[in-house]
Amino acid sequence: MSGPGKTAQAAKAERAGRTAKQPPAESPRAFDLVVVANRLPVDRVQTANGEVDWRRSPGGLVTALAPVMAKTDGAWIGWHGAPDEKVEPFANGDMFLVPVPLDEEEVELYYEGFANTTLWPLYHDVIAPPEFHRTWWEAYRRVNQRFADAAAAYAAPGATVWVQDYQLQLVPRLLREARPDLRIGFFNHIPFPPLEIYAQLPWRRPVLEGLLGADLIGFQRANDANNFLRCVRRFFGLTAKQNTVNYEDRAVRAEAFPISIDIAQIAELAAREDVKERAAQIRRDLGNPKTILLGVDRLDYTKGIRHRLKAFSELLEDGRLRVGDATLIQVASPSRERVESYRLLREEIESTVGRINGTYDTMQHTAVRYLHHSYPSKEMIALYLAADVMLVTALRDGMNLVAKEYIASRSENNGALVLSEFTGAADELKQAILINPHDIDGLKDSIMTAIELSPAEASRRMRSMRRQILDHDVERWSQDFLTQLAQSPLPAKQPSKSKPSRAKKAGRE
Ligand code: F6P
Repeated sequence: MSGPGKTAQAAKAERAGRTAKQPPAESPRAFDLVVVANRLPVDRVQTANGEVDWRRSPGGLVTALAPVMAKTDGAWIGWHGAPDEKVEPFANGDMFLVPVPLDEEEVELYYEGFANTTLWPLYHDVIAPPEFHRTWWEAYRRVNQRFADAAAAYAAPGATVWVQDYQLQLVPRLLREARPDLRIGFFNHIPFPPLEIYAQLPWRRPVLEGLLGADLIGFQRANDANNFLRCVRRFFGLTAKQNTVNYEDRAVRAEAFPISIDIAQIAELAAREDVKERAAQIRRDLGNPKTILLGVDRLDYTKGIRHRLKAFSELLEDGRLRVGDATLIQVASPSRERVESYRLLREEIESTVGRINGTYDTMQHTAVRYLHHSYPSKEMIALYLAADVMLVTALRDGMNLVAKEYIASRSENNGALVLSEFTGAADELKQAILINPHDIDGLKDSIMTAIELSPAEASRRMRSMRRQILDHDVERWSQDFLTQLAQSPLPAKQPSKSKPSRAKKAGRE
């Protein structure tokens, strides 16, 4: 943490011609690294004696950033998850947390509406039809401004601010307007759609302008960065050279930084005797089937759970698989439960599972063991160890960390991964059995190939995938991003305050 005085970085920034503004006087602390994400990295829990406490949430982003935050003593700005409630900033382990309040209506319009019923389906190949509502957009702008204000208040002069994901695409621009002295990075955890799809967004220009406020914009795949640069070319006439465009006299870079997982933590859990015993117990509880197939997803229509169930039930119907020999465990963790499309999906999945089990279950064995829960990491690793075949059949997915977690758990180099080519992970895990989830016959054949893989072939594939994963740990991901952000050229001049910004003009588009 830096005090209110001038930091070395701020002095350097000033030498380079930037104005290193002080954070507002009322801000009690200022930080050299500020992460801005829709959610805080903690969940509220009730202790045994009835007190409120905060426990580190299990998500991938938290795992990815915790080590950097620990080293730099950073601040994390995000929503604490409870509408209509103001929570004061507080320290939690190595992080300082700044809760951003959202009222009930903002949760509905900004989070459930614009973020998850406009952007989410639009950015995931319009698998579900996106809805465009001006009131949702207004709420998105308002809430993004609130996050930007909080970041501006807690960032030390010349600090690095790293904004995360599609919920906060306007923050880089808004933050730069308030604090031109900052280095601003943005990482998009979900896909960035092709121009032809992105063009549907009525607010396509202000969203791009929001992103262009960053110095470095990270994407999961090279294709996402290319899609973004094509959009910038189409709507701003800017041509990229070596993935860099010049925008308002600044260089803005768009690059792929595929996110990963904490390999060491997973390997350690996978090696524990109690976790291995739990995996054996899971197999016994299912009646010792020859093959356990596993799907682990948030209950989301992008994950291809219906396609997977269809393929599995047809394999049972065709007699290529038999209940007792094969069981599918499907973990579907609850997600965005107030959003209509998620509610409908849950009904559909649960009636499909009911139909499959009603048709194929025996007294001793079940076809699909469906679990609508989230589990702690220890139980997840036991499931990965128990699974002979991992099924990742997403119709579109920014990365898919489940695929990587499965690989990281398989230290004995056995097991097979069936992986959709529409995931970011497929760019790296070329030795998986790659599938097109829309092709049900192809998916069925690939599931059978995975089940029947010879131990030698399974081991060859798994070794190669493990080499790839072990080389690309999540700490490397955040280091790579932050190192490149630190190298991004400083702005030559400040954006002019006198003429209306392009963002404002475009807001009226
Ligand atoms: O990037 C997608 C993401 O926002 C993840 O960060 C998160 O784990 C998941 O979607 C679910 O997010 P939420 O429950 O906040 O909608």
